[in-house]
Amino acid sequence: MPRVVIRSMPNGPNVVFLDGKFVTELCRCGHSQQKPDCDGSHRKAGFVAPAAETIVLE
Ligand code: FES
Repeated sequence: MPRVVIRSMPNGPNVVFLDGKFVTELCRCGHSQQKPDCDGSHRKAGFVAPAAETIVLE
């Protein structure tokens, strides 16, 4: 079964890995113009959020 890891970066997106390989960065600030993907707008918006616990789905 594939292993999915989602890591919430400090002040940034949720980064998705599949079997250890980068898949995508998902917006969690709400400011991206390319949702659901992060387009870097969190920096300009001054998004502040702590790193979140890694979620693992197997
Ligand atoms: S987290 Fe990067 S644009 Fe929203």
